[in-house]
Amino acid sequence: MTPTARFIMERYASLLPVTEHTPLVTLGEGGTPLVRSRSIGPELGLEALYFKLEYANPTGSFKDRGMVMAVAKAVEEGATSLLCASTGNTSASAAAYAARHGLRAYVVVPSGRIASGKLAQAVAHGAEIVAIDGSFDDALRIAKQLAERPGVALVNSVNPYRIEGQKTAAFEVVDDLGDAPDLLCIPVGNAGNITAYWRGFVEYQRLERASKRPSMWGFQAAGAAPLVLGHPVEKPETIATAIRIGNPASWEGAITARDDSNGVIEAVTDDEILEAYRRLAATEGVFCEPASAASVAGLLKRARAGASLAGLTAVCVITGHGLKDPDTAMTIEAVRHNVPADLAAVEESLGWR
Ligand code: F0G
Repeated sequence: MTPTARFIMERYASLLPVTEHTPLVTLGEGGTPLVRSRSIGPELGLEALYFKLEYANPTGSFKDRGMVMAVAKAVEEGATSLLCASTGNTSASAAAYAARHGLRAYVVVPSGRIASGKLAQAVAHGAEIVAIDGSFDDALRIAKQLAERPGVALVNSVNPYRIEGQKTAAFEVVDDLGDAPDLLCIPVGNAGNITAYWRGFVEYQRLERASKRPSMWGFQAAGAAPLVLGHPVEKPETIATAIRIGNPASWEGAITARDDSNGVIEAVTDDEILEAYRRLAATEGVFCEPASAASVAGLLKRARAGASLAGLTAVCVITGHGLKDPDTAMTIEAVRHNVPADLAAVEESLGWR
């Protein structure tokens, strides 16, 4: 095993569209931790609950898995630029891999709706950033048209290589647990990730590396829940800006994952998302961005509604890091300000005197 064998293009090469002409691309993606819950899982009566910490990928979100594959194929096919629409994480990832491979990165984002950490990443990596007065759905429509130029590779999840790379997360879950879990809880925005996980689980069962496939439990934000409503949402709204999407590109893939797995796609409110977000950080040591907490919010909600979880093994996908969105974190008033620089004053402020 080479030192980089945990990186997905090497580890799962035989299950990916990797040929002798495909360059090996890596910033260290994949091999993310599957960490057992100490508080929420036991409380819900689950046999075991795990968090798949996809924020441990190099740019802090799950997007890097699909991006390495898309970028490798773009380089193989002679592209000179990457292009994407994004709610933030895709653009951060595209910008990083573009910088590494000497490609230009063009990103189209909805103005004022990108968490500051994500925008900082795209800026740092030197992407060309256009903020439009519109939604993610508008940005994707425009990006698809821009991508008709020669030499430009569209790296949204409409790019089939993105889904291929992202399915490796399902492989890792099975490899770590020894079999598929009973439940896989996942936030859903543009629906590429739920599509990819499902593909990964189906392929692994076909290869007899898993004896079963999980029920897929997808969760959308209530103000941006087209798959729950059954029709596109014109003006999606949620604090979880990563999944503020009204017309998911992988609509069919999400519905197939739900129906073929005997699963569900349901909505969680912003309050439920924030409750899970705070609980994950305060009781599990897991600091994720609000969209990621939708997976746990949905599990908690279904448990409250009486779903029977006893004896089951569940995995919640934690898609992006809390540091991506410091503004949401700082809405929790926790800092004692203006304390004089002496011991007594600090003790006083802590209530120790
Ligand atoms: N969680 C995070 C942190 C995300 O950034 C996204 C999507 C999702 C969940 C939903 O995944 O779209 O595959 O259903 N972010 C995209 C972006 C849209 O542009 O970064 P999905």
